[in-house]
Amino acid sequence: MATFSIPTFTIPILLIYLSLKPISPIPLPNTPHFGPNLLLIGDAHAINSPSSVQLTDPKSSPSSGLLIRSKPIKFRTSTKPLSFSTDFTFSISPQNGDGLAFIIVPADFSPKFSRERFGLSRENRFFAVKFDTSVNGNVGDRNGNHVGVDVGSLHSVKVSNVSAINLVLNSGIKLHSWVDYDSSSKRLEVRLCEFGNPRPYDPLLAHGIDLGEMWRGEKVLVGLSSSSGNSMQRTNVYSWKFKLRSIPNWLHSQPVNPQAFSSEHDQEKMVDQKKLCALRLFSRLIFATGCGLLAAFAVLFLWTLFANGSSQVAVIPVKCSTNSGDFRYEKIKLVLEDSLDGVKN
Ligand SMILES: *[C@@H]1O[C@H](CO)[C@@H](O)[C@H](O)[C@H]1NC(C)=O
Repeated sequence: MATFSIPTFTIPILLIYLSLKPISPIPLPNTPHFGPNLLLIGDAHAINSPSSVQLTDPKSSPSSGLLIRSKPIKFRTSTKPLSFSTDFTFSISPQNGDGLAFIIVPADFSPKFSRERFGLSRENRFFAVKFDTSVNGNVGDRNGNHVGVDVGSLHSVKVSNVSAINLVLNSGIKLHSWVDYDSSSKRLEVRLCEFGNPRPYDPLLAHGIDLGEMWRGEKVLVGLSSSSGNSMQRTNVYSWKFKLRSIPNWLHSQPVNPQAFSSEHDQEKMVDQKKLCALRLFSRLIFATGCGLLAAFAVLFLWTLFANGSSQVAVIPVKCSTNSGDFRYEKIKLVLEDSLDGVKN
């Protein structure tokens, strides 16, 4: 179904473009910390191949880099709306660059990736969760240590103060973030803590948004992007997991984050399911027994009908035949004997 064809006349243009483009996407080797289908764009490069990915290059300011999943996704298909859970570990060095952003962009985005503003300055259709370390009055940033949700503009639709949870984004310390989107509740949640700590129960930021309405059936890509602004800020990513969750339309009350539920809850659920199973088995057993009884009655009924019928058949000639007296007598006798047998028993 997914066919991709390039009109022949665009091939020479594409070749010229690719030869002019300074850095083309480089595949990142598949490792447990990153998984398959990742591309490095811009200044992004693997370090100690690839125990970490450095998105910005302090030697070439302004610098920007993008780690992107090459597999496009669709938020709306004919059957199921899409939910996702992603988590990544990263560090941002103490300069006042832009920081890091988790971005969702149209599938044809990579040639538009720029040097500024998380590489998004030439794209106006995007969704971003930014871990912002600069105070940019133009886009309404209040402090250089916040998480913001951006839709098509770097003017955030929602921000959360990271200082309020006693963390500093650009301290150089390794941090861990979870971004979960649930399509049935149309809710986005962002969690953040120091690397090594358990996933926080309370989200740092929660925002109602319908990504299915925003992207519909369009093919989009997800990525982690960083830009250093005019600083020498270094942003490193140490791991990144991205999981899609398709929820059938009829199921509405799916938790935003199944992992947030304790194992106790899971066990409760399992016990409930076992009970449900037993109940189903029992009802099936009753049903089967009922069916069996019904069938037995039906057979018995037919059998008695057939048995009576045969004696009636034996009687009919008696009624119809007018002569042949002996034969008639015997027949009657037979039926009588039969009925006498029945009385005796
Ligand atoms: C962020 O939180 C810190 C600590 O609670 C507070 O001092 C600061 O004023 C807050 N900044 C903004 C912009 O809300």
